Formats: sequence, C-alpha cells, structure tokens
Amino acid sequence: MLSKTIATINFKGGVGKTTMTWCLAELIANYHAVMVFDLDAQMSLTQAIAGNEGSFRANKFSKWLETSSQQEKTIYHALKKYVDNSGYSFSSDYIYKTQRGYDFVPAVEDLYWLDLEASGADRRTIPGFMRSLLGKIGGFKKYDYALFDCPPAFTWLSYSVLSCCDLILIPVNPDFYTVGGVYKIFNALIKWIEPFPKIGLFMNKVKTTIDRKTKALKMTSETQSYWDEVKEICEGIAEEQNLGIRCFETPICDRVSIK
Ligand SMILES: Nc1ncnc2c1ncn2[C@@H]1O[C@H](COP(=O)(O)OP(=O)(O)OP(=O)(O)O)[C@@H](O)[C@H]1O
Ligand SMILES: [Mg+2]
Repeated sequence: MLSKTIATINFKGGVGKTTMTWCLAELIANYHAVMVFDLDAQMSLTQAIAGNEGSFRANKFSKWLETSSQQEKTIYHALKKYVDNSGYSFSSDYIYKTQRGYDFVPAVEDLYWLDLEASGADRRTIPGFMRSLLGKIGGFKKYDYALFDCPPAFTWLSYSVLSCCDLILIPVNPDFYTVGGVYKIFNALIKWIEPFPKIGLFMNKVKTTIDRKTKALKMTSETQSYWDEVKEICEGIAEEQNLGIRCFETPICDRVSIK
C-alpha cells in the first residue's frame, strides 16, 4: 500500500488544481517515489506532462498513450470493468515513466462519459475502486506518494479517490465565487466521504502589493479579506464537525511565470 495519498480538488474550475498537483509531483519526485494520476477528462495534466516529454503530437508519451488506449489499458477501462463487476487488471503497462522521475497514469477523454455509462452499476462499490487499485499497484511497485489531479466536479472516480486519500488539498482563489464554493465542497465531503481525511486549503493566484512601510510583498487588502473569509468558514466547520482542517499560510502569487 502507498504511504501518502494526496488529492487536489475544488468544484470551481481553473483555481490551480492541475498546476499545483504538477508542481508537487516535480518537487516531491526529487526525494521520493511518486505516482501521479490525472483523473480529469479535460486531460490538462496529461497534456502538461506530455509537453515535458517533447512535442505533444509526436513524442514517446503520445505513442505510448495511443497504444495503451487501443489495448484498453487505461484508468477508464479499469474502472469500467470494476463497476461492471467483470473483474479488472492493472499492471505496469498502465503506467508511464516520465523523464522527470515520477510515474504517471494519464486521463483519457472517455472519462467524460464514464458516469453516464456506469449509471446502472451498484453505487456502493464505487468508493472501493481506488483503494483496490492502489492495493494492486502496491503488489508490483512501492511508491511513497500518490498524487491525484481531480476534475472540477464530483465524479465517480474522484469519489473513489476522496474515499481513500490521506490529505485533500483545496486551492482557492481570491474571488467571490471560489470563496462561496468552499461551503459547497465541505457539504459534499461531509455527506459523502468516509473516513474523513485531513484537509488543507491555500490561496493560489494571490494578488500582491508592496507594503509602504516595510517594502515587503503582501496580499492586497481584497485578497486578504477573501482569505480571512476562507479561514473563518474553515474554523467554523472544523469546530462544528470536529474535523482536521488546516489553512496554510503559504500564498501562491498570481504570476505569469507559473502560468
Ligand atoms: N499562481 C498562478 N499564477 C498564474 N497563473 C496560474 C497560477 N496557478 C494556475 N495558473 C493558471 O491558471 C489556469 C488554470 O490552472 P489549472 O489548469 O491548474 O486549474 P484547474 O483548477 O486544474 O482547472 P480545471 O478546473 O479546469 O481542472 C492555467 O492557465 C494555469 O497556468
Ligand atoms: Mg485541472
């Protein structure tokens, strides 16, 4: 079994889930054995990682992805067989070894339709999928960390990940809708996720200004007020529900270089 599983989620799109998962993978892979999953049919992380392996259309990764899709050796096929109750396999053939040192399970477009296709399946079995899959992977390779880039929605695949991860990371942005959405995320997690993992929130795309007195960089007052609101929401929910929720004071600036 893997020792640490971290999922990055937010039902709001574009807050930086993929970017942060990717950065974490690049960073942690310097010290530990890392496995990264793209669970989003948009395939953003898959495209980003493909870009690192050379030009997207003609590189080794793209050929590998084409072959594994033809051979039905993708996360989509594994979950589909799992929910159809027809048994599934998962071997090293499903996992791409990146030049950057971490292993990668890409997303495929078919994930868009998975929830529709599997709508007749026994829903009670879904949360067990990722736990079962990680058990299978642990049978042939030991990883220290598994990172999951989740879609901006509550899909069956993300449901199965959230049901077995140690830490959920929630990037938030300094805007009205993202901050308002924090309640919705907690409502869904409290309703559906068992056991409840640790939760960490942090602010991404932070707008900064120079402090007149100290000349240091600080959050603009608007960004600060959104972050204060997030912390207040989290404190209230953590106390009310007795949950391990932490707001990390590590703002990530809105930077063209990150983009
Ligand atoms: N700190 C940052 N500064 C500037 N740009 C950023 C920052 N973080 C993310 N971005 C950019 O914002 C866009 C959305 O980021 P990303 O794709 O990581 O979000 P996401 O939450 O995964 O989106 P989706 O919900 O569509 O999966 C991308 O163009 C990314 O490069
Ligand atoms: Mg994304």
